[in-house]
Amino acid sequence: MDRLVIQGGSPLSGEIRISGAKNAALPLMCASLLTSDPVQLSNVPHLKDVTTMLGLLGRMGVQVSLDDRLGVELRAERISEPLAPYDLVKTMRASILVLGPLVARCGEARVSLPGGCAIGLRPVDQHVKGLQQMGAEIHVEQGYIAAKAGRLHGARIVADIVTVTGTENLMMAATLARGTTILENAAREPEVVDLANCLSAMGAKIRGAGSDVITIEGVERLHGAVHAIMPDRIETGTFLVAAAATGGSVHLRGADGSILDAVLEKLWEAGASVDVEPGAVSLAMRARPRSVNLRTAPYPAFPTDMQAQFMALDSVAEGTGVITETIFENRFMHALELQRLGADIEISGNAAIVRGVPYLQGATVMATDLRASASLVIAGLVARGETTVDRIYHLDRGYECIEEKLSQLGAKIRRVR
Ligand code: EPU
Repeated sequence: MDRLVIQGGSPLSGEIRISGAKNAALPLMCASLLTSDPVQLSNVPHLKDVTTMLGLLGRMGVQVSLDDRLGVELRAERISEPLAPYDLVKTMRASILVLGPLVARCGEARVSLPGGCAIGLRPVDQHVKGLQQMGAEIHVEQGYIAAKAGRLHGARIVADIVTVTGTENLMMAATLARGTTILENAAREPEVVDLANCLSAMGAKIRGAGSDVITIEGVERLHGAVHAIMPDRIETGTFLVAAAATGGSVHLRGADGSILDAVLEKLWEAGASVDVEPGAVSLAMRARPRSVNLRTAPYPAFPTDMQAQFMALDSVAEGTGVITETIFENRFMHALELQRLGADIEISGNAAIVRGVPYLQGATVMATDLRASASLVIAGLVARGETTVDRIYHLDRGYECIEEKLSQLGAKIRRVR
């Protein structure tokens, strides 16, 4: 199993390019199921989750061709079997994103229930409820969501909670439904907007993406499109926090600072100078970071996917920070591992009280999920001595060439197989 070995203590410095967003790429690939024409995506990140999704779509009969310049063409001329099996869904919850497109296009789908997840329960009841309101008959049998429908019809769907993939699933399904669908309490994440832009380029009629009410007027058919995937805001935020924690200075090319307000605000509060320009974000940190308090919530508030990285930053900051997690009920597993590096963290319900210590000390730690592993890498970069981060397959799910990028910024990091 691959591990990362990090020799801490070098401030990150230099320039790297930010990749396309994982959480935009996954729904965009599923959107190809909605048309028999080719959908061409560029700026596709080279990630384990993307490969898993390509495998899943390929098994359904989607023709996949890759070029050598981060481009993927997906052609779902015929869908041979509208099935997402357990062995794939269990490794990647985002597989649920095939449900809406399959029901809309094929009138049926069998998608495994995702099951246990390291960061919380993460049910999919809102996806199911929305599709039922659009006329699908859905049962759970042998661990699978089995859906059947004639042509879906428009509906007014009020989500009980804000869900990102739930909004994306229903928005995709609604593009081919008869009549108008209104999604209320919709997720406002930039990845939802990126998906809406691609669907619109495919001929869908969508208004309001990026707000909490999205209106979709169904059309008879969609056609192919060419779409460039948006930059990854969480990868951007992760490198910014890594630079801030190590007292470094970085320039991130291809990043979009306009979708990172809540994160940049906290970095300013921590004492960093951040500069946003079109197509790039830079950060410089000259002193020991100051602790920040934060509370995760749906976009545009502070993202849960940046919570673990800020816990690493608060661990070495001056003062005490309180981190409150409101999205996932079990997303503090990194706290225990950070403690093994010498962090002073007390968990109380959904809050973590992080008392900054002057330094962390290298040790072997274990990654429990994608963003937890990013926080351990950041901690390893600031710790004295050597840190080994075990189980980094979690990291490979969402960070393209992370050790190459960190090396480019001067980190002493190597992968051991
Ligand atoms: N929820 C329900 N019922 C549903 C759907 C969600 O109760 O039907 C609950 C979840 O249990 C959770 C909350 O609603 O407590 C929010 O979950 P959401 O559905 O928004 O999460 P998701 O769509 O499964 C996406 C990202 C996650 C990110 C969350 C929150 C993708 C592929 N995944 O997940 O990304 O943490 O939104 O922003 O877009 C990551 O990249 O590391 C990651 C986990």
